[in-house]
Amino acid sequence: MKAAVLHEVGGVPRFEEFPDPVPAEGEVVIEVLAAAVENVDKAVAAGKHYASGKYLATMPMIPVFDGIGRLPDGTVVGFGNVRSPYGALAEKTVVPEGAYAPIPDGIDPAVATVMASAITALTMKTAAGLQPGETVLVQGATGVAGRLAIQVARLLGAGRIVATGRDDTQLAELRADATINTAVSDEALQKAFDEAGAYDVVIDFLWGRPTEILLRALTPDTFAFGTPTRIVQVGEVAGSDLVVPADALRTSGVELYGAGRNLSPESMGEAYQQVVDWTRAGELTFAIDRVPLSEIESAWQRGSSRGRRLVVQP
Ligand SMILES: NC(=O)c1ccc[n+]([C@@H]2O[C@H](COP(=O)([O-])OP(=O)(O)OC[C@H]3O[C@@H](n4cnc5c(N)ncnc54)[C@H](OP(=O)(O)O)[C@@H]3O)[C@@H](O)[C@H]2O)c1
Repeated sequence: MKAAVLHEVGGVPRFEEFPDPVPAEGEVVIEVLAAAVENVDKAVAAGKHYASGKYLATMPMIPVFDGIGRLPDGTVVGFGNVRSPYGALAEKTVVPEGAYAPIPDGIDPAVATVMASAITALTMKTAAGLQPGETVLVQGATGVAGRLAIQVARLLGAGRIVATGRDDTQLAELRADATINTAVSDEALQKAFDEAGAYDVVIDFLWGRPTEILLRALTPDTFAFGTPTRIVQVGEVAGSDLVVPADALRTSGVELYGAGRNLSPESMGEAYQQVVDWTRAGELTFAIDRVPLSEIESAWQRGSSRGRRLVVQP
């Protein structure tokens, strides 16, 4: 079969022949229809992710551990848990029986690869209990997940949406009510957070410095009742650590949640169905750069820009 084959840690996958996967007992071979290349896949291939060891144990290997494909009986499914060295950037891959779920009719497989990012955005409701009319701050709004979070906030009835990013051109493309550029001095950023108003819910893809400064902005400088702000931790593109001064929690009313709060098979199922319904109705749109598998080498190096997801189709 044809596959994107990685020969060394930190290398670039090449389009070449690779032996077809042979299923062991309890496994099934999947014909791959689409696979998204995300930051996490590049981090794994570069040996910079905690899961790198598992996926890079045998070289050469095929990157990307989930995708959309067709079972031998013709059912189109979203799959995960590929058996390394087989990955999703190939014509075929192999997974344990049951490590997949059907994709509803009428959903393009390339779109289906990006739906997880919209489900993640729904944690502003599942984790933080967003109510219609509330103000949402999307920290890191110019990426794929951030742009979807703006759409999701709108669909959930947010009253006001404030978006942060570090590029004015991209910020201007967003359908937010106000934008904040984080690539300014700490003082200027704190002032911008202050001036953009109170926030009920923050969905945070950045963490690190911008969120430390947000906490400073949320901390009252007089004795006053704090306005509760529920922050949902989702990503960490600006830094994995955060200094939280004691008074930032004690006096601000800030509540810090992980995106996994309140997640259960039922709430995941509801979030998935909600995203499917919005997608079918055309209310939620996904920005995708489709690339044939044969172009993986240049596409991997080029990446995707301006909030678009690179989706590879064999
Ligand atoms: N996609 C998902 O479903 C999902 C699920 C859970 C968690 N996450 C996490 O959420 C984060 C974003 O994912 P994504 O898929 O949206 O990534 P993405 O499309 O690559 O977007 C990343 C965004 O972060 C910005 N950025 C990068 N470094 C920054 C920095 N130092 N300071 C400020 N902004 C910075 C980039 O801005 P520029 O355009 O200016 O470079 C870009 O807008 C990642 O940490 C990811 O692991 C994603």
